[in-house]
Amino acid sequence: MRLSVILNFMNNIILVGFMGTGKSVVGKKLAAKLNRDFVELDDIVETREKMPIKDIFEKKGELYFRLVEKKIVKEASQLKNKVISAGGGAIVDEENFKNLKNSGTIICLKASPETILKRTKGLKTRPLLNVHDTKKQIEELLKKRETYYNKADFSIETDNISIDEIVLKIIAFIA
Ligand code: S3P
Repeated sequence: MRLSVILNFMNNIILVGFMGTGKSVVGKKLAAKLNRDFVELDDIVETREKMPIKDIFEKKGELYFRLVEKKIVKEASQLKNKVISAGGGAIVDEENFKNLKNSGTIICLKASPETILKRTKGLKTRPLLNVHDTKKQIEELLKKRETYYNKADFSIETDNISIDEIVLKIIAFIA
């Protein structure tokens, strides 16, 4: 077996990107296709804290959420051969980025503010988008986070392509 094949096998594939870019749905499909486990970091946070992320933000604040997220990122970075979906704000933190980078290949899913707004509209599960002017909030957060998302190994614009096409692009990149 080629060394690169073995290394790829050990490496995680980590999906990052803004809320509503499709990390979870793409991650699940990608994991099934590659016969790997899918790990959703936000789910682990919720299980640990025994409450939805929305409640963590409300009751304990964003700072507390970020501390728990950091701990989970660190633990998940020790895993091997997984498809990992990280919450939209995770790689803004330098230490989180380093940990994830050391554990595999980082793929960033991107979308325009309009697409993100359409995909997340009506969902009350994302506290950061639960504001009066959601479009403005998306635009501002995207701008703030742009440089962090651009540190990914590979990025995919998801506005006009299907889930299957995104999965194929990722597989082609890591092959
Ligand atoms: C967040 C994104 C969410 C979740 C939390 C904060 C962010 O995850 O971690 O609400 O800061 O962008 P998704 O990107 O999976 O929605």
